[in-house]
Amino acid sequence: MKKEKEIREIFKTHFEKEGTMYASAGRINLIGEHTDYNGGFVFPGAIDKYIMAEIAPNGTDHVRIYSIDMNEPASFGLEETDIPNAQWVKYIFGVCREIIKRGGQVRGFDAVFAGDIPLGAGLSSSAALESCFAYALNDLFNENKIDKFELARIGQSTEHNYCGVNCGIMDQFASIFGKKGYLMRLDCRSMDFEYYPFNPEGYKLVLVDSVVKHELVDSPYNKRRESCERVARTLGVETLRDADMDMLDSHKQEISEEDYRRARFVIGEKQRVLDVCDALERGDYETVGKRMYETHEGLSQDYEVSCEELDFLNAIAKECGVTGSRIMGGGFGGCTINLVKDNLYDNFINTAKTKFTKQYGHEPKIYDVVISDGAHKCN
Ligand code: GLA
Repeated sequence: MKKEKEIREIFKTHFEKEGTMYASAGRINLIGEHTDYNGGFVFPGAIDKYIMAEIAPNGTDHVRIYSIDMNEPASFGLEETDIPNAQWVKYIFGVCREIIKRGGQVRGFDAVFAGDIPLGAGLSSSAALESCFAYALNDLFNENKIDKFELARIGQSTEHNYCGVNCGIMDQFASIFGKKGYLMRLDCRSMDFEYYPFNPEGYKLVLVDSVVKHELVDSPYNKRRESCERVARTLGVETLRDADMDMLDSHKQEISEEDYRRARFVIGEKQRVLDVCDALERGDYETVGKRMYETHEGLSQDYEVSCEELDFLNAIAKECGVTGSRIMGGGFGGCTINLVKDNLYDNFINTAKTKFTKQYGHEPKIYDVVISDGAHKCN
């Protein structure tokens, strides 16, 4: 990562020593949105955009951190229980507290970090930050005894208990378990997962960022989750993973019209992930793409987490003959993920830029992503 040199320089100036460098990645998700907290399947991969941190124990019971991107220092005591005000500090504070809560060790440390994951784009920069510190503190103070699933859960609990986001496990899982060249199909109920090689010959995977920012903290994300849980209770199942359309329809009278649509999306999405996995094994990218469009439609009409800008980008993709396109991540802004044939790529990008700029007055950002390794110690 470009900022590595800067991290090392600032660490040296600030703390007059050298630490160990750790990194964790942002993620994409090919398909399987809002299914993780419903016990369903997701299909993410880590990408070549990172949070990187240099860290060294400091022999005290205090944590001192400097965020290069925020240009801001922060510190807290490991005995403190008051949640810090600054959002970025909450993530690191939460990770420390959650490790301690689980009986793990955290001693005082100094850290400098920076990242190149665009914020608010739906690429899980916050999960990458949590995962980077969870991984590092496990390595530095716990002889790597905390297993990787628990590291992901530490990040997820940080969101729940310190940031007010009742997220599922997908983002932290992808950030911790990501592997170069592979997507992962995760069953969020059993936590079984499988690596799928992903190298669609003749296609590119490109993200188009609307640069409309969503903040999951203040967003209706938690409300979507509540809708799903309400329907599951009505249907008498633990999560919507155990529901099908017949069950949903037989309880239609007891469910609000809105909740019905939310559940209809989740039930459909569960099957779409499985279809995409099968299609990938056959190299059938047309089916992959079709399911991606269906997901977009469902997220937009039934789950209502899209916005005008993302629907606009999706429509342009369709017009340009892009194989598959949909909103990615929690929604309420951020990116579309697009599977596009090599020979259509240039036209798609140019058309998206021109039309979007004309309509909304700013250019969308384009990210070509490479599926990469998740959390690791750097050299
Ligand atoms: C956010 C959450 C994830 C997941 C996605 C939607 O990224 O953090 O747990 O629910 O939204 O698929």
